[in-house]
Amino acid sequence: MPTDTTPRIQRPVRPLAEYELDVPMRSILIGTDALNKRILELGREISDHYRGRLPLLVSILKGGVVFLTDLMRAVSIPHHIDFLQLSSYAGGKESSGTVRLLSDLGTSITNRDVLLVEDIVDTGLTLSYLLKQLEIREPSSLRVCALLSKTEARKVHVQIDYLGFEIPDQFVVGYGLDFQEKYRNLPYIGVLDL
Ligand code: IMP
Repeated sequence: MPTDTTPRIQRPVRPLAEYELDVPMRSILIGTDALNKRILELGREISDHYRGRLPLLVSILKGGVVFLTDLMRAVSIPHHIDFLQLSSYAGGKESSGTVRLLSDLGTSITNRDVLLVEDIVDTGLTLSYLLKQLEIREPSSLRVCALLSKTEARKVHVQIDYLGFEIPDQFVVGYGLDFQEKYRNLPYIGVLDL
């Protein structure tokens, strides 16, 4: 049993002013402390729900990867992780509505307890496509954990079992989320001045 009782996850995050931006940041919507606090709460809920089972946390590349790496350290029960990659937005701000599977999971999910870990649910088209694809493979259970949701922008209904934050219908970057593949490294969720 490790003896380290550090209550918080420490991360190699730089002072915010040191992050170099080629577009000004209009506002910070969710700061690092709020993200940390909420992710710890989600980690507790998820651990309580899946205790005694061995869930498979599935992250959707690339946007979901920062969230997954923090969330998995907030989950205290043993679990597996896997990744898949989809394309939906062609690097811009608008949803194309077309989703393609670029890279599949490395593991079978049949009879597994699967938790999809999404960065953001916007129109819901991506998640709805993905849930249909995964349900065909007959997992024991299939739940969704999303860091952010823009309910105002929804085009199809999707159920989110664990939600970090509800946000307004604005295009956000940081903490894994990109604009033209940039700004995923920011340790906060912000709105660019585009
Ligand atoms: P949906 O299919 O419209 O729900 O979009 C889901 C995907 O679009 C997310 O997984 C993100 O990759 C991307 N996305 C949606 N909204 C934003 C945003 O505000 N910033 C960055 N990416 C976004």
